[in-house]
Amino acid sequence: MATDPPLLQYVARPGLLDLGWGHPHPSSLPLRAWSEASRDALSRYGYQALAYGHAQGPGPLLRWLTRRLSGAEGRICTPEQTFVTAGASHALDLVCRMITRTGDTVLVAAPTYHLALRIIADHGVVVRAAPVDGSGAIDVDRLRKVIDRSGRVAMLYTVPTFANPTGASLAPERRAMLVAMARETGLTIVEDDTYRELVYEGEAPPSLWSLARADEVVRIGSFAKTVAPGLRLGWINAGPPLIEGLTRLGYVDSGGGVNHTTALTLAVFGGSGAYDEHLALVRRRYANQRDALVTALRAELPMLDVPSPDGGWFVWLRLPAGRPASGLLPVAEADGVCFVPGDRFYPDHGGHDHIRLSFSMLGAHDLAEAAGRLAGAIVRSSGGAGRR
Ligand SMILES: Cc1ncc(COP(=O)(O)O)c(C=O)c1O
Repeated sequence: MATDPPLLQYVARPGLLDLGWGHPHPSSLPLRAWSEASRDALSRYGYQALAYGHAQGPGPLLRWLTRRLSGAEGRICTPEQTFVTAGASHALDLVCRMITRTGDTVLVAAPTYHLALRIIADHGVVVRAAPVDGSGAIDVDRLRKVIDRSGRVAMLYTVPTFANPTGASLAPERRAMLVAMARETGLTIVEDDTYRELVYEGEAPPSLWSLARADEVVRIGSFAKTVAPGLRLGWINAGPPLIEGLTRLGYVDSGGGVNHTTALTLAVFGGSGAYDEHLALVRRRYANQRDALVTALRAELPMLDVPSPDGGWFVWLRLPAGRPASGLLPVAEADGVCFVPGDRFYPDHGGHDHIRLSFSMLGAHDLAEAAGRLAGAIVRSSGGAGRR
């Protein structure tokens, strides 16, 4: 007998506290405010809210978004530099489609978002890790040599702000060096800026996009983490030639702007102040969730260095020496907790001694319990040393 198709991507496993998936906490999704924005968008724009939309995205969203980005950054962002997409994943897929050819090399700042590796690989390119220094940051001088030696390097993909999986941000001086190197070599940097607005301490560092002068950087953004992933809404910032190329794609010509009705609703959600209100709320929530996980891990595992990220959703934890993450996972799952092993975030090898923990989906109480279970699994698989 056929089974009912499920509703959601995520399927909970009974008894398991999940630190693996980077999904939002259900109570941080703006049910009421979004339904008000939907109603207001329909009454304000009438039939136009449901018609085929402008290829680049509807004017009201392009205006609201570019004003917001320009106000937050030292570089003016215009509608001509912006294309609305079905989220950051779609944005990355489109960018790969526009600027890579089969057989090209694509460099990534590893460890990097594991599913971006899949999106990039869909384009028949060779994916390689960019060189990094001892701190894990891109080594710009060695990168320049790799570019000189390799065949056609189509782009460098990086998540420099509150990264997935590390939670870390590239230092401002390294950002300037990277953009200058791209200017000299003609390399296109694809900056995935998905977590910029989920900042909990101080301010997010300047985007690579804001430091660039022309088309050295293509920036992709998303409303998946700040508002809701089900919207499938994001954008690309790039030079006008790339944006014009996107508007000329056959499926845009045929179907109009991507997710037009949702995009128009987001414009209303943003313009009414609901976006800022919601952002303030989720920043407080996720900061509390981060603190719950980090505090519990530090108490349970005093022998480990547990980083506390200034933004984003992830803690990148180095395991005790000699403990590969893949061997730990079945032990942890038997104890009722799971995570993503570090090697998934590398295109080739690396990360075997790290795990990624996401604090986005569970409340503070469950996070503390999950940290206790994880600590038990780590200590047992390390021979018992180090737990308080
Ligand atoms: C760095 C990064 N980029 C992109 C995405 C996916 O974004 P979207 O849901 O907008 O496709 C994620 C989601 O986990 C992410 O962590």
